[in-house]
Amino acid sequence: MTCKEKLKKCKEEGTALLATNFYNFETLKGLLLAAQKTKSSLILQTSESTLHYLGIKPAKALADSMLKEYGVQGWLHLDHGSSVELVKECLNAGFDSVMIDASERPFSENIKITKEVVEIAQKYNANVEAELGYVAKLGQKQSLEPTSAVEAKTFVEETGVNALAVAIGNAHGFYKEKPYLNFERLKEISAVTNCCLVLHGSSGIPDDQLQKAISLGISKINLATETKNIFMKTLQSVLKDNREIDLRKVFPVAIDAVNTLITGKLEVINTVRHA
Ligand code: 13P
Ligand code: ZN
Repeated sequence: MTCKEKLKKCKEEGTALLATNFYNFETLKGLLLAAQKTKSSLILQTSESTLHYLGIKPAKALADSMLKEYGVQGWLHLDHGSSVELVKECLNAGFDSVMIDASERPFSENIKITKEVVEIAQKYNANVEAELGYVAKLGQKQSLEPTSAVEAKTFVEETGVNALAVAIGNAHGFYKEKPYLNFERLKEISAVTNCCLVLHGSSGIPDDQLQKAISLGISKINLATETKNIFMKTLQSVLKDNREIDLRKVFPVAIDAVNTLITGKLEVINTVRHA
């Protein structure tokens, strides 16, 4: 089943896929152990900076071989792609899904570039995600203005995009105060489009709000910061008074921490079904 088909199925069933970013072999291993244990499918995501770090082809080869090794159904996705060139490179390398993020451009330009990517992705049968509205990136100020339902309807109709990231009180990175998602707006957006809706910035969103968001039409939950944080915090604490130089003895503790974190998230996400 392709990523596009799976997300469509999730949308119809009222379920969601966890889409988690990985950065290296160790974080990927932690994610896959969790998916294997909970018998979950998942989307593995790489941001542009991870692709600069790993390389596009090595990232693809690593994701493929690890999914096979752990017997997990999963797909590889470009997270927050900023250019058509990068999208093309990822599609040529065999990515199952790409995001073109032109959310900071004017509405008409966002439509134009997204439409171009949808056309390109067609021959690869790849899933295409775009973003409409302002989901603050790391270091940016959070916006209180949610995605407009009227604009979302027009955007999906004009671009033919499969998945749409929406701004409903979410932001990337840890929240300074407890977040409260705008469920009213999510309902309004869900009512006017059948497109798969995506929640970015899920780190720090309480479990009950994640579950409610899924029950109101979110079918892809993007999580990154919590994984990075637990991996590095665990390593820092292990290495604090430790002079071990055999990295194979140190990394497993951090891999386990990622496994535990993601197992918990998958359990939260997997319990949701539409009433
Ligand atoms: P967090 O880093 O806030 O979990 O957001 C992840 C994300 O949206 C990736 O696209
Ligand atoms: Zn994001």
